[in-house]
Amino acid sequence: MVKLAINVDHVATLRQARGIDEPDPVLAAGICELAGAAGIVVHLREDRRHIQDRDVEILRRTVKTKLNLEMGANEEIIQIALRLKPDMVTLVPEKRQELTTEGGLEVAGQMDHLAGVISRMRDAGIPVSLFINPDSRQIDAATKVGATFVEIHTGRYSDAKNDTEQNREFALIAAAVNAAHEAGLKINAGHGLNYLNTARIAALDKIEELSIGHAVMARAIFAGLDQAVREMLALCR
Ligand code: PXP
Repeated sequence: MVKLAINVDHVATLRQARGIDEPDPVLAAGICELAGAAGIVVHLREDRRHIQDRDVEILRRTVKTKLNLEMGANEEIIQIALRLKPDMVTLVPEKRQELTTEGGLEVAGQMDHLAGVISRMRDAGIPVSLFINPDSRQIDAATKVGATFVEIHTGRYSDAKNDTEQNREFALIAAAVNAAHEAGLKINAGHGLNYLNTARIAALDKIEELSIGHAVMARAIFAGLDQAVREMLALCR
């Protein structure tokens, strides 16, 4: 069965909106783990708009499953990752103006830089995942730069306006999963997945883990976080 990792960034977004110390993403992470999540994901952005350094530091000590640190490949955040040693890092493109991570990494266009970051992480014992669009060119490049995982971007599938578009995007994801598997990469997937569109992706048996945040937090506001995670887990099963 595909594993479910929960992204708790939005809990920090709510906290930062008020500039006080609650709600705490650390507490949210514990509730997600108790509900059965196999991992916790946080994105430490350069602009610190939601997750703070303190969150990652505490989560490193408290997460009992797996802590996946999402990050741009910039030197300040690289240093933090090397010091805290999360269970894995996921490199994403990061733009200041975006509301959320918009596209996948252009791996092919920055092979030397990414190979360097991956090798430093490897020396520190941290496996690296590259967040990429379902595109064979990016899979080839991810293999060449020495990534352990790719996370296939499911955003276009999730945003599809009709069945035809969704089927087309699903086919691209399925092909990318097969190509990444053939290339010897481990495979995660995520972005935009919700209670209606996750089951189909979860059924792709070569995907190890789904990374889901927004939909679970949106449901948690009304149903509670424990219940929201359990319902998403049921869909993964
Ligand atoms: N994977 C990556 C690389 C992301 O940047 C995000 C958003 O932070 C997610 C997964 C989760 O996306 P969503 O919040 O839409 O579930």
